[in-house]
Amino acid sequence: MRINNGYVDEHIPEGTDIVREINRLKEKKNAIIMAHYYTVPEVQDIADFIGDSLALSQKAAETDADIIIFAGVHFMGETAKILSPEKKVIVPDLNAGCSLSESCKPEDFAELINKNPGYTVISYVNTSAGVKALTDIVCTSSNAVKIVDSLPREEKIIFGPDRNLGNYIKSVTGRENMLIWNGACHVHEEFSLAKIIELKNEHPDAKILAHPECKKPILLVADYVGSTAALLDYARKDDSQKYIVVTESGILHQMMKENPEKLFIPAPPIDSTCGCNDCIFMKLINLNKIYNSLKYEAPEIHINEELRIKAEKSIRRMLEMS
Ligand code: 13P
Ligand code: SF4
Repeated sequence: MRINNGYVDEHIPEGTDIVREINRLKEKKNAIIMAHYYTVPEVQDIADFIGDSLALSQKAAETDADIIIFAGVHFMGETAKILSPEKKVIVPDLNAGCSLSESCKPEDFAELINKNPGYTVISYVNTSAGVKALTDIVCTSSNAVKIVDSLPREEKIIFGPDRNLGNYIKSVTGRENMLIWNGACHVHEEFSLAKIIELKNEHPDAKILAHPECKKPILLVADYVGSTAALLDYARKDDSQKYIVVTESGILHQMMKENPEKLFIPAPPIDSTCGCNDCIFMKLINLNKIYNSLKYEAPEIHINEELRIKAEKSIRRMLEMS
């Protein structure tokens, strides 16, 4: 078995029924495939569990599978491993990183914390195990407001690494005493307000749905702001027929599947040839890589035990508070 460039690079014989083989191997090995909503449609369709970051963390903590194939990005697999160290956790392509997580190195984050004693540290789940180990409470876009709101108003907070989510929480909760890390997600930062307004002018009856990782001017024009799961829930329950969707394009697959009678229009980024906005990291995960990773049980996520124990505390605190 060859791991080349971060994934198992083995030839798959022509004519292999990949989906059938994945299902056969999954059963034989007691494996579960978990996928984030931003992965490509064919990956979402073979997953045993699809979710946003919070739901995936909750599922990773409770599954009784022996192997977790994490169809998502590296920090998600790492979170699963932190919560379930006895399991084999595999991310089919280790190149599936995250620009937001990369924007916050543990040593730099530690410097900010050390310069500001007495602050409670809240970190978005989109961080490395090293950052989580420095954190008091992890959060996701689903529960960030609830977690901040549950702390006494006078509590001083360091929030990292997403500045847009941090500023959104600050304005929703009315907190003054929040220090926010200056990081951002390359996907959500690049949406174009001008193009969204153009789309709205073309479709005045469409509602704008936006993820809180988007910049403030976009959140101000949105009809609804929420995490991936919250946007899906809104689209399911709301009675409009058209939506301009300002988040990663993978979400459109479930939106259209669940609401075939409604129209979902992807918002384009500033520079766009495809008209939608993809996370290049999430899109690295495909069926061939899942098949090979399941067959050869690689590449596995490993975490230093001392670091894992520290990081686990802050994730468990989030799970208790969610
Ligand atoms: P949620 O899954 O919390 O909506 O976060 C979106 C995201 O950017 C995942 O990487
Ligand atoms: Fe990271 Fe953004 Fe991709 Fe999510 S969408 S994995 S935050 S780069």
